[in-house]
Amino acid sequence: MALLPILRYPDPRLHTRAQPVAVVDDEIRQLVRDMAETMYEAPGIGLAATQVNVHRRVVVIDVTEDKSGLLVLINPEILERAGEQVCEEGCLSVPGVYEKVTRAERVRMKALNEHGEPWEVEADGLLAVCIQHEIDHLDGKVFVEYLSQLKLNRIKSKLAKKARITA
Ligand code: NI
Repeated sequence: MALLPILRYPDPRLHTRAQPVAVVDDEIRQLVRDMAETMYEAPGIGLAATQVNVHRRVVVIDVTEDKSGLLVLINPEILERAGEQVCEEGCLSVPGVYEKVTRAERVRMKALNEHGEPWEVEADGLLAVCIQHEIDHLDGKVFVEYLSQLKLNRIKSKLAKKARITA
């Protein structure tokens, strides 16, 4: 296993649209293991392959407190959305920034697991937010892009300052 470097916003590679996985093979399973390790280490509750500069439709999520609920989403697709919720979100690619985003309250999603088997889930609350946030990453969208241009500019200059300090 290996920890993978996470791209930081506004890295333009975060805007790449990920390609579907044709075959779930050992290479994909290795990617899933490395992504899970990277997510737990960070720590975070979700990570999309886009964030580790691999542009394939692969996501790992674990919203449990004891890290016992790893979900593997390969080629995830949202089948239904319902309702609306506002949740304060953060992102491993936008460290230190937490902002409210409006998303669907409930989603029904289908995906493949690491064995290439289809599975489905009806999610609400935090899991529903996380699924939508991670699938956005696969489509090249970062959560701060839901905010106003003014807020986005403020975040960009804050991150630029931080990059200068840590560089
Ligand atoms: Ni994120």
